[in-house]
Amino acid sequence: MNLGVNIDHVATLRNARGGAEPCVLDAALICEMAGAAAITVHLREDRRHIKDADVIALKKNLKANINLEMAATDEMRDIALSVAPYSCCIVPEKRLELTTEGGLNVVQNFEKISKLIEALHSKNIIVSLFIDPDLEQIKASADAGADYIELHTGSFANAFGTDKCDIEFNKLKDAAKYAQSIGLKVNAGHGLNYENVSLMKEIEGLCELNIGHSIVSRAIFVGLEMAVKEMMDLI
Ligand code: PXP
Repeated sequence: MNLGVNIDHVATLRNARGGAEPCVLDAALICEMAGAAAITVHLREDRRHIKDADVIALKKNLKANINLEMAATDEMRDIALSVAPYSCCIVPEKRLELTTEGGLNVVQNFEKISKLIEALHSKNIIVSLFIDPDLEQIKASADAGADYIELHTGSFANAFGTDKCDIEFNKLKDAAKYAQSIGLKVNAGHGLNYENVSLMKEIEGLCELNIGHSIVSRAIFVGLEMAVKEMMDLI
């Protein structure tokens, strides 16, 4: 299973002082050197962490795949088409949320998302849709032409260590199986950490986990290279 490291919170720290430290590109290069297959960044509408210039610098300097998380807006589509990252993960975005709160509603936004996928495919960009483990959303993702889905593991992560964990875990397992049966490749992410991540190995055929907050947090104590390596060992 591959690891995609989300480095948004390196930019959060940088932006806290408005300067250039810590350098997002240097962080990405360390993750790449430590073995991450992908570097994930979420260019939010309000640019609260990653900025446009970060995405351009990553594209110029990285060998690892760049996975651009973005909302389904015309502005983000145009940026993606001009930067041409390896992949785009389409996420829902609410201005006031602290982090991505739920999966994309592909059923309700089917036309818009289908057109966006078509546009991104015209530049050979692989498209993933960040959705909850919901069979209807999975079917709509396949119908819309997505290459991958990324299963939102937030509910599982919140339930980890409680009696609801099995229910949430089985939802992910069933969702992954169904998605693969209709031709989708499956990634997962959100809220995964050094304690709960091992269970992801029990979900057959997962391609990649996208993990950010726990790795950047751990890096404060052991350094980024070690934090990435420790996560790679676990998955
Ligand atoms: N995957 C997606 C689509 C996300 O939006 C996020 C959060 O930005 C992550 C993965 C990583 O989540 P976390 O920071 O909780 O590991």
